[in-house]
Amino acid sequence: MQLENAIKKRKSIRRYSEKKPDWRKIVKAIDAARYAPMAGNLFSLRFILVQDKDKIVRLKQACQQDFVGKAHYIVVVISDMTQVNRSYGNRAEKYGRQQAGAAIENFLLELESQGLATCWTGYFSEEQIKRILEIPENMVVEALFPIGLETKIKTKEKPKPDLENILWFDKWKNKYMKPIQRVRIESI
Ligand SMILES: Cc1cc2nc3c(=O)[nH]c(=O)nc-3n(C[C@H](O)[C@H](O)[C@H](O)COP(=O)(O)O)c2cc1C
Repeated sequence: MQLENAIKKRKSIRRYSEKKPDWRKIVKAIDAARYAPMAGNLFSLRFILVQDKDKIVRLKQACQQDFVGKAHYIVVVISDMTQVNRSYGNRAEKYGRQQAGAAIENFLLELESQGLATCWTGYFSEEQIKRILEIPENMVVEALFPIGLETKIKTKEKPKPDLENILWFDKWKNKYMKPIQRVRIESI
């Protein structure tokens, strides 16, 4: 799948078909996360691919969201901030958040391009997730990604902001590029 298609077609899916996806595709998506930019090239992300049914039920409880328990697999994304903290002091937290987002987006786009469905799940009890998966206390659980195949029932695409409302030129809230350019956004 072309990159632009993957970016524009990706959406959160919370219903999964009975058919199990090929776990190798998930591993390939995790592999894509490795190529994300990292401050000082210090790769801070870790991934746990959960397939154990009992653990999936317990993870659902830790998220208090039923769809999480309907997935065939769950990928749990964790930041190990040890090296980033050592290198970047008070900037480390910000860097850690940004690189987690960068790695996760690579992962999501690769899942999308392989036809797998997921939904970023950020609401959970971190304490419970750590207990279920034996994750050390000093790690940061970033998010869970229940994974399956999309059902035939179509989910609505969410409205996205108009480019003209989020892009400014040369200064905060200046909508016009000098000299004033009239371009069709669709042509960009
Ligand atoms: C940081 C973050 C946390 C999220 N947490 C949840 C969540 O706990 N449960 C859920 O159903 N969706 C969650 N979402 C998914 C958003 O609701 C979804 O991305 C948003 O509605 C836009 O829809 P789209 O992903 O289809 O474009 C989360 C998304 C992000 C980026």
